[in-house]
Amino acid sequence: MAESKAPVITVDGPGGSGKGTITQMLARRLGWHLLDSGALYRLTALAAERQGVSLEDEPSLVNVAASLDVAFEPTPPGEPAKVLMAGVDVTADIRTETCGDNASKVAVMQPVRDALLQRQRDFQKPPGLVADGRDMGTVVFPDAPVKIFLTASAEERAQRRYSQLKDAGVDVNIDALLEEIRVRDERDMNRAAAPLKPADDAQVIDSTGLSIEEVLVRVMAAAGQA
Ligand code: DC
Repeated sequence: MAESKAPVITVDGPGGSGKGTITQMLARRLGWHLLDSGALYRLTALAAERQGVSLEDEPSLVNVAASLDVAFEPTPPGEPAKVLMAGVDVTADIRTETCGDNASKVAVMQPVRDALLQRQRDFQKPPGLVADGRDMGTVVFPDAPVKIFLTASAEERAQRRYSQLKDAGVDVNIDALLEEIRVRDERDMNRAAAPLKPADDAQVIDSTGLSIEEVLVRVMAAAGQA
Protein backbone atom coordinates (compact mmCIF):
# COMPACT_ATOMS: atom_id res chain seq x y z
CA MET A 1 0.00 0.00 0.00
CA ALA A 2 1.40 3.40 -0.91
CA GLU A 3 2.34 5.57 2.08
CA SER A 4 0.11 8.38 0.90
CA LYS A 5 -2.96 6.17 1.13
CA ALA A 6 -5.61 6.74 3.77
CA PRO A 7 -5.55 4.48 6.86
CA VAL A 8 -7.82 1.43 6.98
CA ILE A 9 -9.37 -0.44 9.92
CA THR A 10 -10.55 -3.86 8.81
CA VAL A 11 -13.34 -5.65 10.68
CA ASP A 12 -13.90 -9.24 9.58
CA GLY A 13 -16.03 -11.99 11.06
CA PRO A 14 -19.07 -14.18 10.55
CA GLY A 15 -22.57 -12.82 9.91
CA GLY A 16 -24.40 -11.76 13.07
CA SER A 17 -21.21 -11.00 14.99
CA GLY A 18 -22.30 -7.34 15.22
CA LYS A 19 -19.87 -6.22 12.51
CA GLY A 20 -22.43 -4.22 10.53
CA THR A 21 -23.60 -2.14 13.48
CA ILE A 22 -20.11 -1.75 14.94
CA THR A 23 -18.48 -0.68 11.68
CA GLN A 24 -21.24 1.88 11.06
CA MET A 25 -20.77 3.34 14.56
CA LEU A 26 -16.99 3.31 14.26
CA ALA A 27 -16.97 5.00 10.85
CA ARG A 28 -19.38 7.64 12.11
CA ARG A 29 -17.33 8.36 15.24
CA LEU A 30 -14.12 8.66 13.28
CA GLY A 31 -15.74 10.52 10.38
CA TRP A 32 -14.30 7.88 8.02
CA HIS A 33 -15.72 6.14 4.97
CA LEU A 34 -17.38 2.74 5.32
CA LEU A 35 -17.14 -0.25 3.01
CA ASP A 36 -19.86 -2.89 3.46
CA SER A 37 -18.25 -5.52 1.25
CA GLY A 38 -20.96 -8.09 1.99
CA ALA A 39 -23.43 -5.75 0.26
CA LEU A 40 -21.44 -6.13 -2.98
CA TYR A 41 -21.78 -9.94 -2.84
CA ARG A 42 -25.47 -9.57 -1.97
CA LEU A 43 -25.94 -7.13 -4.88
CA THR A 44 -24.22 -9.54 -7.26
CA ALA A 45 -26.63 -12.29 -6.17
CA LEU A 46 -29.65 -9.99 -6.45
CA ALA A 47 -28.63 -8.62 -9.85
CA ALA A 48 -28.07 -12.17 -11.11
CA GLU A 49 -31.52 -13.20 -9.96
CA ARG A 50 -33.14 -10.14 -11.60
CA GLN A 51 -31.23 -10.71 -14.85
CA GLY A 52 -32.13 -14.41 -14.88
CA VAL A 53 -28.52 -15.53 -14.43
CA SER A 54 -28.09 -18.92 -12.75
CA LEU A 55 -25.99 -19.09 -9.59
CA GLU A 56 -24.00 -21.86 -11.29
CA ASP A 57 -23.12 -19.80 -14.37
CA GLU A 58 -19.74 -18.47 -13.23
CA PRO A 59 -18.75 -16.52 -16.39
CA SER A 60 -22.08 -14.65 -16.42
CA LEU A 61 -21.84 -14.01 -12.67
CA VAL A 62 -18.42 -12.43 -13.24
CA ASN A 63 -20.01 -10.09 -15.80
CA VAL A 64 -22.80 -9.25 -13.39
CA ALA A 65 -20.26 -8.46 -10.62
CA ALA A 66 -18.04 -6.41 -12.92
CA SER A 67 -20.91 -4.33 -14.27
CA LEU A 68 -22.80 -3.67 -11.02
CA ASP A 69 -24.24 -0.15 -11.00
CA VAL A 70 -24.21 0.63 -7.28
CA ALA A 71 -24.49 3.69 -5.08
CA PHE A 72 -24.36 3.82 -1.28
CA GLU A 73 -26.21 6.82 0.13
CA PRO A 74 -25.60 8.10 3.65
CA THR A 75 -28.58 7.92 6.03
CA PRO A 76 -29.28 9.37 9.49
CA PRO A 77 -27.33 7.78 12.39
CA GLY A 78 -28.62 4.35 13.39
CA GLU A 79 -30.11 3.53 10.00
CA PRO A 80 -28.44 1.19 7.49
CA ALA A 81 -26.93 2.97 4.46
CA LYS A 82 -29.33 3.23 1.55
CA VAL A 83 -28.23 0.97 -1.30
CA LEU A 84 -29.21 1.79 -4.85
CA MET A 85 -28.81 -0.58 -7.78
CA ALA A 86 -29.23 1.09 -11.18
CA GLY A 87 -30.88 3.94 -9.28
CA VAL A 88 -33.45 1.69 -7.57
CA ASP A 89 -33.54 1.40 -3.76
CA VAL A 90 -32.68 -2.24 -2.93
CA THR A 91 -31.75 -1.68 0.75
CA ALA A 92 -34.37 -4.14 2.02
CA ASP A 93 -34.11 -6.60 -0.91
CA ILE A 94 -30.43 -7.38 -0.25
CA ARG A 95 -31.04 -8.09 3.47
CA THR A 96 -33.28 -11.14 3.06
CA GLU A 97 -32.04 -14.58 4.21
CA THR A 98 -32.31 -15.85 0.62
CA CYS A 99 -30.15 -13.04 -0.74
CA GLY A 100 -27.57 -13.63 2.02
CA ASP A 101 -27.49 -17.32 1.23
CA ASN A 102 -27.13 -16.67 -2.51
CA ALA A 103 -24.39 -14.11 -1.78
CA SER A 104 -22.49 -16.76 0.15
CA LYS A 105 -22.78 -19.07 -2.90
CA VAL A 106 -21.47 -16.55 -5.44
CA ALA A 107 -18.72 -15.57 -2.97
CA VAL A 108 -17.05 -19.00 -3.24
CA MET A 109 -16.09 -18.21 -6.86
CA GLN A 110 -12.62 -16.70 -7.13
CA PRO A 111 -13.32 -14.93 -10.47
CA VAL A 112 -16.35 -13.21 -8.91
CA ARG A 113 -14.17 -12.12 -5.98
CA ASP A 114 -11.54 -10.83 -8.42
CA ALA A 115 -14.21 -8.84 -10.28
CA LEU A 116 -15.14 -7.06 -7.03
CA LEU A 117 -11.60 -6.49 -5.72
CA GLN A 118 -10.70 -3.11 -7.22
CA ARG A 119 -14.17 -1.71 -6.52
CA GLN A 120 -13.55 -2.47 -2.83
CA ARG A 121 -10.05 -0.97 -2.82
CA ASP A 122 -11.42 2.22 -4.38
CA PHE A 123 -13.20 2.94 -1.07
CA GLN A 124 -9.82 3.70 0.51
CA LYS A 125 -9.92 7.50 0.60
CA PRO A 126 -8.94 10.19 3.11
CA PRO A 127 -9.48 10.66 5.95
CA GLY A 128 -9.75 6.87 6.35
CA LEU A 129 -11.80 3.72 5.80
CA VAL A 130 -13.55 1.19 8.02
CA ALA A 131 -13.87 -2.01 5.96
CA ASP A 132 -16.46 -4.65 6.95
CA GLY A 133 -16.31 -8.18 5.52
CA ARG A 134 -14.77 -11.64 5.59
CA ASP A 135 -11.41 -11.08 3.86
CA MET A 136 -10.74 -7.37 4.44
CA GLY A 137 -7.64 -8.02 6.56
CA THR A 138 -6.43 -11.11 4.69
CA VAL A 139 -6.93 -10.18 1.01
CA VAL A 140 -8.40 -6.78 0.22
CA PHE A 141 -6.37 -4.60 2.61
CA PRO A 142 -3.52 -6.86 3.80
CA ASP A 143 -1.44 -3.82 4.84
CA ALA A 144 -4.12 -2.25 7.03
CA PRO A 145 -2.54 -1.02 10.28
CA VAL A 146 -5.49 -2.17 12.40
CA LYS A 147 -7.26 -5.50 11.86
CA ILE A 148 -10.09 -6.77 14.00
CA PHE A 149 -11.83 -10.13 13.85
CA LEU A 150 -15.23 -9.95 15.51
CA THR A 151 -16.90 -13.18 16.45
CA ALA A 152 -19.76 -14.56 18.60
CA SER A 153 -21.21 -18.01 19.24
CA ALA A 154 -23.57 -19.36 16.56
CA GLU A 155 -26.37 -19.54 19.18
CA GLU A 156 -26.00 -15.87 20.07
CA ARG A 157 -25.86 -14.84 16.42
CA ALA A 158 -29.05 -16.81 15.73
CA GLN A 159 -30.72 -15.13 18.73
CA ARG A 160 -29.71 -11.65 17.50
CA ARG A 161 -30.99 -12.34 13.99
CA TYR A 162 -34.21 -13.78 15.43
CA SER A 163 -34.82 -10.59 17.45
CA GLN A 164 -34.04 -8.39 14.43
CA LEU A 165 -36.46 -10.28 12.20
CA LYS A 166 -39.14 -10.42 14.90
CA ASP A 167 -38.87 -6.65 15.39
CA ALA A 168 -39.29 -6.28 11.64
CA GLY A 169 -42.49 -8.35 11.87
CA VAL A 170 -41.02 -11.41 10.14
CA ASP A 171 -42.12 -14.78 11.50
CA VAL A 172 -39.10 -17.09 11.84
CA ASN A 173 -38.05 -20.27 13.58
CA ILE A 174 -34.92 -19.92 15.69
CA ASP A 175 -33.76 -23.50 15.10
CA ALA A 176 -33.99 -22.99 11.34
CA LEU A 177 -31.99 -19.75 11.68
CA LEU A 178 -29.30 -21.49 13.73
CA GLU A 179 -29.03 -24.21 11.10
CA GLU A 180 -28.75 -21.61 8.30
CA ILE A 181 -26.02 -19.79 10.22
CA ARG A 182 -24.08 -23.04 10.68
CA VAL A 183 -24.37 -23.91 6.98
CA ARG A 184 -23.25 -20.42 5.93
CA ASP A 185 -20.32 -20.40 8.42
CA GLU A 186 -19.22 -23.77 7.10
CA ARG A 187 -19.32 -22.54 3.48
CA ASP A 188 -17.58 -19.21 4.25
CA MET A 189 -14.83 -20.81 6.37
CA ASN A 190 -14.08 -23.82 4.22
CA ARG A 191 -14.08 -22.34 0.72
CA ALA A 192 -10.76 -22.29 -1.14
CA ALA A 193 -11.10 -18.63 -2.21
CA ALA A 194 -10.40 -16.15 0.62
CA PRO A 195 -11.92 -18.25 3.42
CA LEU A 196 -13.27 -16.51 6.50
CA LYS A 197 -10.44 -16.50 9.04
CA PRO A 198 -8.62 -13.93 11.17
CA ALA A 199 -5.52 -12.37 9.57
CA ASP A 200 -2.33 -13.40 11.41
CA ASP A 201 -2.06 -9.87 12.78
CA ALA A 202 -5.76 -9.46 13.66
CA GLN A 203 -7.04 -8.77 17.16
CA VAL A 204 -9.88 -11.20 17.91
CA ILE A 205 -12.86 -9.86 19.88
CA ASP A 206 -15.63 -12.21 21.03
CA SER A 207 -18.89 -10.29 21.34
CA THR A 208 -20.86 -13.15 22.94
CA GLY A 209 -22.75 -11.78 25.94
CA LEU A 210 -21.68 -8.18 25.27
CA SER A 211 -23.90 -5.21 24.40
CA ILE A 212 -23.15 -3.21 21.24
CA GLU A 213 -21.74 -0.37 23.37
CA GLU A 214 -19.42 -2.80 25.19
CA VAL A 215 -18.22 -4.20 21.87
CA LEU A 216 -17.66 -0.70 20.51
CA VAL A 217 -15.50 0.19 23.54
CA ARG A 218 -13.33 -2.89 22.91
CA VAL A 219 -13.12 -2.24 19.17
CA MET A 220 -12.17 1.45 19.71
CA ALA A 221 -9.49 0.35 22.17
CA ALA A 222 -8.15 -2.26 19.73
CA ALA A 223 -8.10 0.41 17.02
CA GLY A 224 -6.10 2.73 19.29
CA GLN A 225 -8.98 5.21 19.27
CA ALA A 226 -10.22 4.71 22.84
O1 DC B 1 -21.71 -9.82 5.63
P1 DC B 1 -22.87 -10.30 4.79
O2 DC B 1 -23.78 -11.25 5.53
O3 DC B 1 -23.61 -9.18 4.15
O4 DC B 1 -22.20 -11.15 3.60
C1 DC B 1 -22.97 -11.93 2.71
C2 DC B 1 -22.11 -13.05 2.12
O5 DC B 1 -21.10 -12.48 1.29
C3 DC B 1 -21.38 -13.90 3.15
O6 DC B 1 -22.08 -15.10 3.45
C4 DC B 1 -20.07 -14.22 2.50
C5 DC B 1 -19.88 -13.17 1.44
N1 DC B 1 -18.82 -12.22 1.72
C6 DC B 1 -17.54 -12.58 1.35
O7 DC B 1 -17.32 -13.69 0.88
N2 DC B 1 -16.52 -11.70 1.51
C7 DC B 1 -16.73 -10.50 2.06
N3 DC B 1 -15.71 -9.65 2.19
C8 DC B 1 -18.04 -10.12 2.48
C9 DC B 1 -19.06 -11.02 2.30
